[in-house]
Amino acid sequence: MDLKLDGILAMVENLNVKRRSLPADIRRTIEGLRDTGYNTNMAVADIVDNSIAAGASEIRIQIALQTNKKIIAYFGDDGHGMDEIAVEGAMTYGSPERAIKKSLGKFGLGLKTASSSMCRRYSVLSKSGENDQFATLTWDLDHVQEVGDWEVLEVPVSDEDKEAFNELCGPIGTLVKWEKCDRLLGRTRSPDHSDAKVLAGINKIVKNLDEHLATYFHRFLDPDDDRAPNVKMFVNGSPVIPWNPFAPGLSESSELPVIEAETADGNTSEITMTGWFLPHKNDCNKDQQKLVKHANNKQGFWIFRESRLIQSGTWADIGLTQEPHYSLLRVEFDFTHELDEAFDVDVKKSKIQIDPGLAEELSRQMRPLRREAQARHRQNRVRTTQTSVIGSLHRGANVAVQGTAGVARPVVLSANEQSQTAELENSRGRITIKVPVSAAPRTKDVVIRTVDDILDGQLWHARIEKDDDGKRQIVVLLNQHHDFYTKIYRAASTGTATGIDLLIWSLVNAEYNNATDELTRVFDDLRDEISMNLKKLLHDFDIADLDDSEDEEIGND
Ligand SMILES: Nc1ncnc2c1ncn2[C@@H]1O[C@H](COP(=O)(O)OP(=O)(O)OP(=O)(O)O)[C@@H](O)[C@H]1O
Ligand SMILES: [Mg+2]
Repeated sequence: MDLKLDGILAMVENLNVKRRSLPADIRRTIEGLRDTGYNTNMAVADIVDNSIAAGASEIRIQIALQTNKKIIAYFGDDGHGMDEIAVEGAMTYGSPERAIKKSLGKFGLGLKTASSSMCRRYSVLSKSGENDQFATLTWDLDHVQEVGDWEVLEVPVSDEDKEAFNELCGPIGTLVKWEKCDRLLGRTRSPDHSDAKVLAGINKIVKNLDEHLATYFHRFLDPDDDRAPNVKMFVNGSPVIPWNPFAPGLSESSELPVIEAETADGNTSEITMTGWFLPHKNDCNKDQQKLVKHANNKQGFWIFRESRLIQSGTWADIGLTQEPHYSLLRVEFDFTHELDEAFDVDVKKSKIQIDPGLAEELSRQMRPLRREAQARHRQNRVRTTQTSVIGSLHRGANVAVQGTAGVARPVVLSANEQSQTAELENSRGRITIKVPVSAAPRTKDVVIRTVDDILDGQLWHARIEKDDDGKRQIVVLLNQHHDFYTKIYRAASTGTATGIDLLIWSLVNAEYNNATDELTRVFDDLRDEISMNLKKLLHDFDIADLDDSEDEEIGND
């Protein structure tokens, strides 16, 4: 209505201005339209959109290397098909507007721009009634270059095409055929590539395509998802299995308040969002990991137009980058065709533009979700450290202590397991002191390690242990259950943990290097007091509260 009015006003305004027609150069235009930025997956998705819009229940894609060494791609559907007039409309650059606005087609260009972005010759064969003749037309870009006119070809339907139609469509439906596929394998493919290389290239795009369709049309492919009509897809005979990026059975979700966004005609339309917190990789078994597909670059908004995914995993629309500590957050973002203009949806339907006002609102709504995702990421980081700490966290200190000469240390001359005493040669001379002595063989080269059986609450003990070869040494044992261990060590990096190890080892070493019978009791009391103080100091302590850098980043969102 408004557009018509604008047109009339423009006519009136230009009434007294001299006018003439300036037709586009067909040769350059049709070539230029090849370069609208499609990749193979996007181009195929545009063809699939049309099949879904035609009510198809099965879509079969076949990409093959022919005996004449040419690549050919077929896209067959069992949708309502087209008669001759409809095929003419379909092949027109700027097809008639669709009656159903919420359909996956919008510009009247997708079939042509997607096809020509990948190949120089493409055809449509269609039948809307079982006993009808095929309706078919072909665009050949080389022919257009030759004649310099918008001239389509009426190529007779070959037996091969009929066979492909029967196999991929059935009695009625539509078959799109791509030939002269000069860009399907990417632009860098040189003409002298061997068959094997081309076949490998085809296999690669088939695999990528399978993944793309499984993701971008997952609501359509999943028979249990009633937000979109059901459709089955096959690529080179194999069924496409839907992949839901939110792993609903494993993740926790949080619905966000609906946003009423303004449409181009001044009305409003709803944007709905659900935040999904994925389980951490360490909490998933192998099968669950396959379902979730953990990846930093999969965090962020997953944007759906009319249930068809058009953009995946990005914060770019609200001006943020993908950080590892938000990697467990994926946000399902839904809008309808009513917001196409407001979001500047492009012909490829691969991106939307978000205006600054909405970006701010989205950013605000994301803040608590991102904070939660960060907390979950951190929690698991601490837990991960717990499991690996015994094996690797103390390796650095053990290597350093064993490998450093010139550190004055007491020598264990003898030790008695019965009396729990040992004779040491230290800086004070030879002394015999009370000290735990173990009969169990010591792991070679380990002078500091964790244990879970220190029951008096001290952070560390020292014990005399014996190597396989009989050599006795003082070993520092760290209490795995002490708060200092659970809250500081386990959250520390390996470097920091090594530093703490060396500090404690040096204290123990100095203690025994200076021990006398009397001092031993004093050192024991000191260790008691230090352990108790640390326990009290750390009672209500959470290292996550100190992580300024990450919190600041949230504050800056
Ligand atoms: N598989 C198909 N089955 C039936 N009709 C089809 C099929 N593919 C295309 N058409 C018809 O051809 C027309 C043009 O398709 P095209 O993809 O070029 O434009 P569109 O889907 O309307 O819009 P968009 O540019 O957003 O894709 C469609 O409107 C539809 O009427
Ligand atoms: Mg289309």
